[in-house]
Amino acid sequence: MKLFTHLLLALCIVGLSSNTFAFERDWHTQSNYQQVVTNHITLDLQVDFDKKQLIGNIVHHISFPNGYVKQLVLDTRDLDIHKVSLFTGKKWQSTRFVLGQKDAVRGSRLSIELVKNTSQVKISYNSRPQASGLQWLSPQQTAGKKLPFMFSQSQAIHARSWMPIQDTPAMRVTYSADIKTPSNLRPIMSAKNDPVWNNNGQYHFEMPQAIPTYLIAIAAGNIQHKAMSKQTAVYAEPEILDAAAKEFEDTQTMIDATEKLYGPYRWGEYDLLILPPSFPFGGMENPRLSFITPTVIAGDKSLVSLIAHELAHSWSGNLVTNATWRDLWLNEGFTSYVENRIMESVYGSKRAIMEQVLGVQDLKHNLTELPAADTILHIKIQGRDPDDAFSDVPYVKGQLFLMRLEECFGRKDFDQFLRNYFENYAFKSIDTAGFKAYISANLLNKYPGKITQIEVNQWLESPGLPKTAPQPHSDVFVKVQQQRDLWLAGKIKLNTIPTNHWTVHEWLFFINNLPPTITKKQLAQLDLAFDLTQTTNNEIAHAWLLLSIEKGYNKVNTRLTDYMVSIGRRKLIVPLYKALIKTSEGRQLAHSIYKKARPGYHPLAQGTIDALFKK
Ligand code: BES
Ligand code: ZN
Repeated sequence: MKLFTHLLLALCIVGLSSNTFAFERDWHTQSNYQQVVTNHITLDLQVDFDKKQLIGNIVHHISFPNGYVKQLVLDTRDLDIHKVSLFTGKKWQSTRFVLGQKDAVRGSRLSIELVKNTSQVKISYNSRPQASGLQWLSPQQTAGKKLPFMFSQSQAIHARSWMPIQDTPAMRVTYSADIKTPSNLRPIMSAKNDPVWNNNGQYHFEMPQAIPTYLIAIAAGNIQHKAMSKQTAVYAEPEILDAAAKEFEDTQTMIDATEKLYGPYRWGEYDLLILPPSFPFGGMENPRLSFITPTVIAGDKSLVSLIAHELAHSWSGNLVTNATWRDLWLNEGFTSYVENRIMESVYGSKRAIMEQVLGVQDLKHNLTELPAADTILHIKIQGRDPDDAFSDVPYVKGQLFLMRLEECFGRKDFDQFLRNYFENYAFKSIDTAGFKAYISANLLNKYPGKITQIEVNQWLESPGLPKTAPQPHSDVFVKVQQQRDLWLAGKIKLNTIPTNHWTVHEWLFFINNLPPTITKKQLAQLDLAFDLTQTTNNEIAHAWLLLSIEKGYNKVNTRLTDYMVSIGRRKLIVPLYKALIKTSEGRQLAHSIYKKARPGYHPLAQGTIDALFKK
């Protein structure tokens, strides 16, 4: 059996087939993806804003990698299934199906009876208003306030709440879609998009590159298009289109820089869809069309590392994909590393290092709060919702591991190694065991004596940070620290600190590194000098509001309420709720804010915050 697995792995590496499975079975799917494979999906859906439903059908174009089996098992969650039919090459015929009991994490199996020579399976269905992977926004929740908006967020296991599919990152599909919307609302997908809005409410999309199902994405609303360069454009509501295009005008430069480092961008166009502020993430790397929170439009490009991050996924994640959600670090750790290399080449190493330091500080803080088992890169999440195990670990610990490899092997050889990795695994999935085998062959054994196998295993399988973890150091931050210390020692006044020249990163470092002994009175002095409560930068506001909650500086409360009601990005709001509910007074405030804010949040954010209040 072991030999067989190795043989399959070898076949995968030489690239015989992208839908060949040599990895650990993905626990988070109940589908029989190892017996029946969907190679292509056709969607025919109507976006019904009144019912908050997607209604229509999906066709799976299937094959049997190991010979015919009698059943196709798909993942679903909260779907209504109306009818299933089969195509055998001659005609369509209806068939029997059973929707199984709901598993709390994975949803319900849809088991479909097949006949010999089935080549296509068509399912008529609708999603429900509470679909975990969709958010339906009222006009009030949009920038324009006049028209509704909807979007999907399928990673990790939410695609199944709007399509019956084999929902696993071990498998890849191409897709085409026909989407109907009311004629004043334009749909857009992670596929070839026609930039011209045709106003008849009927749209066709083609995704010629094979992708895992969590990257199938849709949005619809009053969405307009503005080109930024030959290959890049912004899609957004008209109210924010120009600001977004200005903020993200360096996107083409980022693509050029990444191609130089890691080889060709393989997806044709790269566009950004700017969502309303309730989007629960910073960004989502939907191929050809990253979904982006508007909270990073700061006016000074200070938060564009998010774009570098989502773009980097076009290599790490979308091209080479984690085979199971246990291997998320292969997506996010590589991407955080690549993101930082892009930032370095476009904006210089000073800024890139500041971003490393801030990331590592966040990670270290995170490590003190997480159960040890959740600080392992190759995390155990069987039986759990991947969303609940989400943390800085796959991102920053993963990034540090790659920085460590770069340090051991030297940039030249390590860059070459990464270029080959993206080439060899293009349009395939890989798990942690496969990666271990790959670096053994292509780094450790090729350049012996640079790092031990024991250390590599420790990075991948042990909790916490190895002693050898790189410790990024920023001279710019040392200066900030010195000013801080002088002020705290009463040796200088706040107005003599040269903050006029500070970048957003210096502000973040300053606020995050005030000592635990800082008093409310000192916060008031800072606020008076720098008007921090009214900062328009959402990251600075987050850091300042968090500190203010911890210190009981309640002059921020009005701003805090506005912030938490108007933003739905989990990373920015969840820590604020957590800090508030630590005291009984804070808990009351958190309750009253949440009462106002909850209806505007995404189902994922609602789920996370509901759970906090239950504790
Ligand atoms: N792919 C992730 C978002 C994600 C991860 C969704 C896991 C569901 C499960 C995306 O690329 C991401 O990492 N977003 C970050 C941005 C960032 C710069 C670290 C975010 O949303 O904050
Ligand atoms: Zn990411």
